[in-house]
Amino acid sequence: MTQDEMKKSAAVKALEFVKDDTIVGVGTGSTVNYFIDALATKKDRISGAVSSSEESTKRLMALGIEVFDLNNIDAIDVYVDGADEITEHMHMIKGGGAALTREKIVAAVAKTFICIADESKQVPMLGKFPLPVEVIPMARSYIARELVKLGGDPVYRQGVVTDNGNVILDVHNLDIINPKQLESDINALVGVVTNGLFAHRCADILILGTALGPKIIK
Ligand code: 5RP
Repeated sequence: MTQDEMKKSAAVKALEFVKDDTIVGVGTGSTVNYFIDALATKKDRISGAVSSSEESTKRLMALGIEVFDLNNIDAIDVYVDGADEITEHMHMIKGGGAALTREKIVAAVAKTFICIADESKQVPMLGKFPLPVEVIPMARSYIARELVKLGGDPVYRQGVVTDNGNVILDVHNLDIINPKQLESDINALVGVVTNGLFAHRCADILILGTALGPKIIK
């Protein structure tokens, strides 16, 4: 099985968790794109979606799935999204696609967070994948200096502007021994919008695409 086939198998499996007449939270990325395609096959049985990025919104709408403004929604039953890394504790690094802030907001509202990923994303410890941090543009250099103090090597993601009009610093070489503490410490820096550690609001269910098929981990 290729990595893409594993992504697709996890994404298709996630459809089983989508209840009729609910609003579905939809993440961002190549694995989620497979989920959106699968979701379109039952679009007449769901109420619609809340999206975590302009990219996913476009894809959802192109397939005829209604996209709601989160401000007009009281509840999201499930939020389905990918990850760049995930541990056995369901802590994640996300934001490879620069959508981390909206992803974190939709995840906060959702009752259940379902992470869909191919098996390469499962890691014993977070941090090999550089940690994305969304930053208000004028604070970029200041935040970069603060991230160095925390032991990381921040790299400005050139040419990328987030859906919120901000920039991304990718932080290499961090020792992420305590993901919740580091998530809080980075978010406390003035000028940081949010960082890609999803430890406080981690996944509830992981659907891992493996060579033997999708595996559900709770
Ligand atoms: C986007 C994300 C994605 O979920 C993450 O980057 C994984 O992407 P892919 O499914 O393409 O591997 O956090 O901001």
